[in-house]
Amino acid sequence: MKGLIFCEFLEMVEEKFGYETVDEIIEKSNLPSKGIYTSVGTYSHEEMFSLVGQLSVNLKVPVSKLFYTYGVYVFGVFGKAYKDLIIEHSDAFQFLSRVEDTIHVQVLKLYPEAELPTIEIKSQGPHKLELIYTSQRKMADFAEGLIQGCLNYFNEDASINKVGLTEDQTQVLFTIQKNV
Ligand code: HEM
Repeated sequence: MKGLIFCEFLEMVEEKFGYETVDEIIEKSNLPSKGIYTSVGTYSHEEMFSLVGQLSVNLKVPVSKLFYTYGVYVFGVFGKAYKDLIIEHSDAFQFLSRVEDTIHVQVLKLYPEAELPTIEIKSQGPHKLELIYTSQRKMADFAEGLIQGCLNYFNEDASINKVGLTEDQTQVLFTIQKNV
């Protein structure tokens, strides 16, 4: 996983909970990187699970909620950093349907070692979008946060429903229904 994802995570923790919390979760996580990340470096996604796990213990907030919160936050960061990639899309559904063949393709050009999920569109209508997340990294909660961040970005009101298609959560179906 790219260092930029770690840097932004630690930035969010510092912003929301202060530097002492950043220090504490890094120390308790026993990380091979020792918590020193450069945005272009590549690190095991296990380190992200360790950091989020420690933050969960520290704050007594479930890991799933923290991944979701981070997803919402990081889409806000992407919204600024990758504005050109997003701006050409007219709404959230159109954007989400292009993550697989456009957005993440561009990401791979920038960062060839990036480990990305598959985001497959199962069905798309004016008010409902179904997409299937597949990844060995099991980060569907993070995906849900990114989807919510995307809805926020386009100023759209919709409900996100999440159902595991496999027991181990490597494949998850999201149904996004517009509230009209
Ligand atoms: C402009 C928008 C986006 C950009 C620039 C972007 C970029 C990235 C980057 C850089 C990573 C990290 C890859 C790595 O560290 O190896 C990533 C991972 C990921 N992306 Fe995107 N992404 C965007 C939108 C989305 C959206 C809308 C979704 C959800 C539908 C999504 C789902 C994910 C997930 C879940 C991961 C974690 C890795 C995994 O689950 O295997 N991304 N993305």
